[in-house]
Amino acid sequence: MATNPGSMADMSPEELRRALGLAAEWVAGYRARVGSLPVLARVRPGDVTAALPAEPPASGDAVEAWLADLERVVLPAVTHWNHPGFMAYFGITGSGPGIVGELIAAALNVNGMLWKTCPALTEVEQVVLRWYARALGLPAAWFGMLTDTASTSTLVALAAAREATGIGVRDEGLAGKSPLVLYCSQEAHSSVEKAGIVLGLGRSGVRRIASDEKFRLRVDLLEQAIVADGAAGRRPFAVVATVGTTSATAVDPVSAIADLCARHGLWLHVDAAYAGSAAVAEEFRWALAGCERADSLVANPHKWLFAPIDCSALFTARPEAFRAALTLVPEYLKTDVVDAVDLMDYSFQLGRRFRALKLWFVFRHFGTTGLAARIREHVRLARRFAERVDAHPQLERMAEVPFSVVCFRARPAGLADEAELERLNVALLERVNATGEIYLSHTKLHGRYCLRAAIGNLGTDEGWVDRAFEVVARAAADAG
Ligand SMILES: Cc1ncc(COP(=O)(O)O)c(C=O)c1O
Repeated sequence: MATNPGSMADMSPEELRRALGLAAEWVAGYRARVGSLPVLARVRPGDVTAALPAEPPASGDAVEAWLADLERVVLPAVTHWNHPGFMAYFGITGSGPGIVGELIAAALNVNGMLWKTCPALTEVEQVVLRWYARALGLPAAWFGMLTDTASTSTLVALAAAREATGIGVRDEGLAGKSPLVLYCSQEAHSSVEKAGIVLGLGRSGVRRIASDEKFRLRVDLLEQAIVADGAAGRRPFAVVATVGTTSATAVDPVSAIADLCARHGLWLHVDAAYAGSAAVAEEFRWALAGCERADSLVANPHKWLFAPIDCSALFTARPEAFRAALTLVPEYLKTDVVDAVDLMDYSFQLGRRFRALKLWFVFRHFGTTGLAARIREHVRLARRFAERVDAHPQLERMAEVPFSVVCFRARPAGLADEAELERLNVALLERVNATGEIYLSHTKLHGRYCLRAAIGNLGTDEGWVDRAFEVVARAAADAG
């Protein structure tokens, strides 16, 4: 049913109920059939634009028509991250409880900029993040807030770190001050460097320290760089350690880095965007060893805790430093409430959606035991894939598999030329992804091109992992 052009109202309750029913049916149906769709979108740039009218509709049409266009135009142009064959980047899951949380968050449509503008948002967010910290074995007393992405979380944390130097950037800016420097490994995510760009350090203010043979930050080189920068009149202020690097999922030596930060008075931020969630399973707690000494830490429930994108948890032991850096309360945002947290004081964003609902529902549905079991299963599946790589004469594993990502490449006997190996593996990846059955991505480890198989979707079972391996093995055989 289309809208009545004369009406000033929103959908009626009956219309909404009907639309939601159809949408719910579509969502459940989509999830049931997603594994039969080509995982990677098969369109060219501009195809979607060309299929949509240039002009907006002058009058509305019915939900059935929207859903028909969703099938006709959108679905073929979707790369299905919720597909069991999606093993690119980091495999993720927009889980059932997470989807329900998103729906209800949209229905409530609250803006939790202040406690008063939605007390439930602020308090559910704080409680659920305390649950998350407890589930990972991190200090439950840490202050937590949700942001959209790890990139934002790291940027906000480093803004607090910059202010914690006491050099007064907030009020006076950077002009005339010693250049600030922060440190991370060669393998750290680009979001650290982007934070440096946004915070006015320049890319030259972000030092990438070489990693060891297992892709972990070298603490000896880190210390040398800190000392050299200090001697040259620069101002070291923060180190970003990574727990689960993007390429190889390596874990930096956080305890040793924490010692060093304590010695030199530097802020320690830990980027545990992907691997942090692994610690819900007891046997992966080792990965967060030393993190209790961090000033701030990011872990993304949208990466490996089955919350739909976007959902990033930023924790800090020093909320007062965030406040000092970022609170700014104009007249129109003053309230008479005391003894409450106003989340706008701890970040640069004002508006805040009810992101915590989906995470709350994820915990409510799976429980920590269920979450741990799923993490464990993903690691088991990744190791199964790795074992098959190891047993294959023409495949070579390129890194250890501490979590659920396997880095590997084809390496036919006798072929040692790196440029030739790269060409071969680029072609292999193209052939694998052209099947539409699975989707893998690539990276370079110490300059060597390799493929990555990342398990993280709740639909990915042993059958899918074996199928993925067979697709790879077949494509590698075809490549000769
Ligand atoms: C270790 C690490 N940190 C940060 C990010 C950035 O995540 P987001 O997309 O949430 O900004 C990624 C993304 O893969 C990552 O692997």
